[in-house]
Amino acid sequence: MSIIRIPQSWEIPEREATSEAVFLNRRRLLKSAIGAALSPSILAIAGCDSSQTPPAATSYPTYPGLVRNSAFARVDRPITDESLSSRYNNFYEFGTGKSIWSAAQALPTENWKVEVSGLVNRPQTYDLDDLQKKFAIEERVYRFRCVEAWSMVVPWVGFPMKLLVKDVEPRSNAKFVRFTSFYDEKIRLGPKWLVFTKVPWPYTESLRLDEMTNDLAFFAIGIYGHALPKQHGAPIRAVIPWKYGFKGAKSIVKIEFLDRQPPTFWNTIDAHEYDFEANVNPNKPHPRWSQATEKFMGKGPNLNWEKRSTLLYNGYAEYVASLYQT
Ligand code: MTE
Repeated sequence: MSIIRIPQSWEIPEREATSEAVFLNRRRLLKSAIGAALSPSILAIAGCDSSQTPPAATSYPTYPGLVRNSAFARVDRPITDESLSSRYNNFYEFGTGKSIWSAAQALPTENWKVEVSGLVNRPQTYDLDDLQKKFAIEERVYRFRCVEAWSMVVPWVGFPMKLLVKDVEPRSNAKFVRFTSFYDEKIRLGPKWLVFTKVPWPYTESLRLDEMTNDLAFFAIGIYGHALPKQHGAPIRAVIPWKYGFKGAKSIVKIEFLDRQPPTFWNTIDAHEYDFEANVNPNKPHPRWSQATEKFMGKGPNLNWEKRSTLLYNGYAEYVASLYQT
């Protein structure tokens, strides 16, 4: 079991204490600063903040009659306890640590709209009611693998992306889709060093259209049987279980169909470290660490990392391997 060191509130990381001028003159620091934020060693330091508790699961709306899709009901490991996954998140708009759940409560989710535009015959603006009326909502248990080499198992609530694709009727020249996350400079609470470096806000991610129409690609509006908490990307996020977690944009406000591959958030910051395809692959190391194994957030309410071998395509080869055979 890893020893987790919880940083004290007075411990300001050096990069946050450095003056603006230093950052303005040292653009190349962005890579090492972001790299440090993502590296497993810092990850261990960030840990879970067990001294505070996110809003209780009972405070979120539920989905009466929700059915777990039996094709996606079981994986080879237990479902991660919600008390852990809801306190261990990546949402850089609200900070680089893992304990952003409290800062993320500033996300304004009322009257949410998702605009679907670009190369489609039927552009749409959906609100959450539209999405739930139009698309059959189901539960799916998926493995979740972060590029940082930690993993969980999560029961998502939502609908397959391919249903939305069908609804908007992409034109024949649509080859890619781009997801854009909510962004408001005024509520972005990320650490100050991000302000002084060229970070391509808003957070965007992208898939090929044939990836988006794969059976597994999912829009989640809930988790553990209730609506998505803000730290998980309320009210709607992308879940692409055979890819590293950074492909799953949170709090989506825009979905655009495009004829070419667009720039994306992490890939723009460092394409060498965060490739566009980002398929989970034990044989392709990250430039700074191996991807052969992962730390699985195992059973029980206490953080109890289990070391596991990474599975090719995160164990979903039977669904997706054919997408990548040239
Ligand atoms: N989406 C936005 N808008 N901002 C982010 O920082 N982080 C990504 C992804 N989606 C991120 C995001 C990364 S790196 C991961 S691993 C997952 O969200 C984490 O999802 P979780 O916190 O719900 O486990």
